[in-house]
Order: sequence, then structure tokens, then C-alpha cells
Amino acid sequence: MSSAENRVFTVAIDGPAASGKGTIARALAERFGLAHLDTGLLYRAVAARVLEGADPVAAAEGLTEADLARPDLRAEAVGRKASEVAAIPAVREALLDFQRRFARREGGAVLDGRDIGTVICPEAEVKLFVTAEDEIRARRRHRELVARGEDVPFEEVLADLRARDARDAARATAPLRPAPDALLLDTSKLSIEAAVEAAARHVEAKIGQGRD
Ligand code: DC
Repeated sequence: MSSAENRVFTVAIDGPAASGKGTIARALAERFGLAHLDTGLLYRAVAARVLEGADPVAAAEGLTEADLARPDLRAEAVGRKASEVAAIPAVREALLDFQRRFARREGGAVLDGRDIGTVICPEAEVKLFVTAEDEIRARRRHRELVARGEDVPFEEVLADLRARDARDAARATAPLRPAPDALLLDTSKLSIEAAVEAAARHVEAKIGQGRD
């Protein structure tokens, strides 16, 4: 890798909801000095506008910084709607350029989502596919929601997560699936620290390969 100022280096992290990919992405960005984009927020911001009555494609085409900063984007209802609007090809198309430019920005970037290693940045230097058993992911999501004061029963969170995974994996455009060259990281039995370490070792191995 060349100097930190002018390197173009992309870490693509994909995986289902609550797999730990966001936590890993943030930690890698900090450790390696890379910019970070949580691409789920783009679909959540479109969904939030749609829940207010906007047309999904118009919302995606007109997305602003202010939309991405909305405080309600993490709500369950917004996540559910995000998975629906994400299945609309014209919505995905409208969000493509922004993600691609972010991925290849100078200084390097980490993006996490569902299709980063397969569609947004197939040339990414590092690809990770982060998974965990669905009950474990639902427990994590439930804990997060309770901590935020959203009183949703665990069974509902589990059912919702399974429905969302099925929709994200079954859609025709850019379905959730590992890129053939992605490292699979199952975080079911890993602490956050151990998962971050495993991901960081993979990044370091790839940086080493790119040096000679
Ligand atoms: O990661 P998340 O829960 O914030 O994502 C919300 C929804 O957005 C998810 O159910 C599917 C969609 N999404 C997508 O289709 N492609 C991405 N790169 C990121 C998210």
C-alpha cells in the first residue's frame, strides 16, 4: 500500500442484520485510518422518507446529508421498510454512484452493507462476509432496541430478522450473498474484540500482499 495520504484501498464488509459487521467496520476504520460508510443508512434514509409518503425512487434520487443525519433511522419500522425499498432496482441504481465514489476515495474506505463486495466494489482489496446464527443476531438486536427504549418482544425481533434476511437474500437485484473471494467470519461464538482482531488480521495480511 502506498502512503496514507494517496492510497486507494477499500474494505468491503457484507452480511445480514446484526451480524456485527457495523461494529467491525467502525473498528477497522479507526484502526487503519479509513473513512467509513454504513450503506444501510442510505436505504434507511430512503425508507424514512417513504414512511412519510414520499415516492421511493424520488427519495433515493433526492437524498441529502440531512436525511442521513435523521435520529430515527435505527428504528425497527424504518429497518423493515428499508429492506423493502432496497429490493427496488431504481432505488439501488440511484444510490450506486455515491457509494462507488466513497469506496474509491483517497485515503481508503470501509463500507458495510449487503452488496459491497459483489456489486458496489467488486475490486475491493479486502472483502469480509460477517455472519452469526439468527437467534444470536436477534438477541443482539433485541438488546439494542431495549437499551434504546423500544419495547419489542424477542419473538417479534427474531421473526422480523428472518423475514428481512429472506427478502435481502432472495431479491433479484444485488441479493445478499458472499463474494467468492470474501473471508467468511462467523461471530456467533466470538466476543466483539475477537471478531475485530480476526478482521484486522485479514486486513493486515492483504496490506502485506499489496506491498511487493
Ligand atoms: O444494515 P441495515 O440493517 O442498516 O440495512 C437496512 C436494510 O437496507 C437491509 O435490510 C437491506 C438494505 N441494504 C441493502 O440492500 N444493501 C446494502 N448495501 C445495505 C443495506
